[in-house]
Amino acid sequence: MSAPRKCPVGVLISGRGSNLQALIDAGFAESFPARIALVISNIEDAYGLVRARAAGIPTRVITHKGKTREAFDAELDAALREAEVEIVCLAGFMRILSDGFTKTWEGKLLNIHPSLLPAFKGTQVHERVIAAGVKQSGASVHFVVPELDAGPVISQSVVPVLMTDTAETLAARVLEAEHRLYPTAVRLVCEGRARLEHGEAVFTS
Ligand code: GRF
Repeated sequence: MSAPRKCPVGVLISGRGSNLQALIDAGFAESFPARIALVISNIEDAYGLVRARAAGIPTRVITHKGKTREAFDAELDAALREAEVEIVCLAGFMRILSDGFTKTWEGKLLNIHPSLLPAFKGTQVHERVIAAGVKQSGASVHFVVPELDAGPVISQSVVPVLMTDTAETLAARVLEAEHRLYPTAVRLVCEGRARLEHGEAVFTS
């Protein structure tokens, strides 16, 4: 049997890139339906770029500095199209994308967020989870819509919040879950089993 076609994915990062690494590692399996065609960082010395280069993946640095949001996003869009990317994964990408970009990539643009959305959108998630005293947290992969962290959820993973947790220990536990979750969600989207239709996530087996 011939190997399945691998969907070309672009990954946008700003830092450490451990979720990028999880996607790189997943891609080694012949049966994984995605391959990373391009990694773009808005930060020149993001460690994720080192990971991508080590895996032989093309990289681009596109700085946001001195540009309007629309001009920056237009450069991202052009680079992704040039690499013939079909799905875009935000993985610790610390820029808010313009409405135009999110519309253009609607249904093809994914983000991972370290909480059980719709709870705890935004930043400082683990500090706020602990302060709220909730006993479960987790990670979510969602389709990106213009409103921040508000898009329909594709997959979630639940982790316990322990009495002894600090923001750091909880972040580490959630991050481990993220690394399993993101490849699972990318698989669902690349195989057409999770889609965005009329603003809702629709699933088929
Ligand atoms: C992750 O916690 C992700 O959920 C959030 O940013 C962090 C990125 O970590 N959006 P890494 O760069 O993938 O290690």
